[in-house]
Amino acid sequence: MLISKLFIIVFVSLTSLSQASNILVMMPIGGQSHKITFNSIITQLANRGHNITVFSPFIFKQNVKNIILKTATSEDTVKSILQFINTNPIILFSTFKNLITSCCKSSLENSEFKEIIVSNQQFDAVIITSFFNECTLMLSSLLSKVIIQVAGGPMFPWMFLPVTQPPSFVPNPLWPVTDKMTFLERTYNAINSISVKMMSHYHLLGDIESTVWQHYPKAPSIAEAEKRVAFVLQNSDPVLSGPNPSLPHIIDIGGLHCEDAKPIPRDLNDFIETSGDHGFILFSLGSNVKSKFLPDDKKQSFLKALARLNQTVIWKYEDDLKETPKNVLVRKWLPQQDLLGDNRARLFISHGGLLSLQEAVYHRVPIVGIPVFTDQPGNIARVVQLHIGVQLLYNDITEENVFNAITKILNDESYTRNVKKYSSIFRDQPEKPSEKAAFRVEYAIRHSGENLLLKANNSFNLFIFYSVDVILFFITIIVISCVIIKKLY
Ligand SMILES: *[C@@H]1O[C@H](CO)[C@@H](O)[C@H](O)[C@H]1NC(C)=O
Ligand SMILES: *[C@@H]1O[C@H](CO)[C@@H](O)[C@H](O)[C@H]1NC(C)=O
Repeated sequence: MLISKLFIIVFVSLTSLSQASNILVMMPIGGQSHKITFNSIITQLANRGHNITVFSPFIFKQNVKNIILKTATSEDTVKSILQFINTNPIILFSTFKNLITSCCKSSLENSEFKEIIVSNQQFDAVIITSFFNECTLMLSSLLSKVIIQVAGGPMFPWMFLPVTQPPSFVPNPLWPVTDKMTFLERTYNAINSISVKMMSHYHLLGDIESTVWQHYPKAPSIAEAEKRVAFVLQNSDPVLSGPNPSLPHIIDIGGLHCEDAKPIPRDLNDFIETSGDHGFILFSLGSNVKSKFLPDDKKQSFLKALARLNQTVIWKYEDDLKETPKNVLVRKWLPQQDLLGDNRARLFISHGGLLSLQEAVYHRVPIVGIPVFTDQPGNIARVVQLHIGVQLLYNDITEENVFNAITKILNDESYTRNVKKYSSIFRDQPEKPSEKAAFRVEYAIRHSGENLLLKANNSFNLFIFYSVDVILFFITIIVISCVIIKKLY
């Protein structure tokens, strides 16, 4: 006992001897799911003794200094998410614009944040979200030599992409296809990917640059700032993310928030026991899509379909719900991973958010996916492709369709078999993704952000990337030779 205590003391003092760095984390924009990703990275870095300052609308409970950004995220915004169903990605993108520019303005006007920039304080590293965060990306190089980007999900085509993603097999995540696309899907995917990229370039980024330059004329342009990023840590995993081209400084840290289940609370456990060997179903539409905003007819369809099951159902529902069948329990908050990790969990009814799906795969639970917006349609397309779940479209929600989607999975072993197979691939990694993330941050600090890893600078130039010039050169030679040969004979 004494020896182990002594060991801990020695160990702790040794680790604190190793360089504690001052790190600034900037996540001025992003939802709950981005917070979860950052939370894992911050926990890992804080445990390693680093001194962390976080600029974000969220409060992080670790031993960090929080600078809170007040933004207008009201219940109304959340309510309106259900309106985005079936919205074309291009229109969806343009609706984001106001939100992003206003978030940039309020970031620049935040007095505590301003103080940091004006005082010319230097950090050993800054870690920023890549989600619509060109605003603080521009400021990063004023604050540190070491810049790390974190992508909380797939890299959208309008983002700064360290390597060009060919629309032939990398789907625009806003659009429900996988790497295997028909000719028409590829055409549409190319149009969509290119138009959101152009919209971002001509419609959004100029505004962000002029907003930042009004306050800080010394900040580099977005294109210049992007080149100074040492690493991109992306929440991408070997199972749910399809194949895509990468570079050595893009590090996959997918599934970093997944952890083994703890025993579930007594009341939930007692409820689950009432269905004996039939097990239970977990139903949650995540943090942005709230079940309480579902229209009444759809709520009734769910309740009627669920009442016909032998399983108990635990539904994350953010309000009181009257007249629930006796096998359905609603709760405003649920320990989702602990429930998914319980061996009586038979099925997960989910909106298809990336983190929820990673948890389902990690804990081996098949899925009924009801995609609503952003990357959810694409995520569920992947789930269907892997045969680890089925899709139920929002517009198709009726008692019969809900019942059929659920029983299809309960009565067919192959979904569970597949999810178990993919789970073991998902879990089989040389190190925990959060350790990998922290290692890369420390590595970049040790080498002063000097990126010795390959960065294909030419990948931004599509002309060179696709060797168009080389192909044209060959065509020219062939044409000239043909002409000469024809003249000779
Ligand atoms: C921790 O970071 C804060 C904010 O940058 C700074 O004021 C403080 O001096 C740092 N503490 C240490 C021990 O470096
Ligand atoms: C419920 O269980 C009974 C007996 O095991 C079975 O016959 C019935 O088909 C089950 N109902 C559903 C909806 O799965």
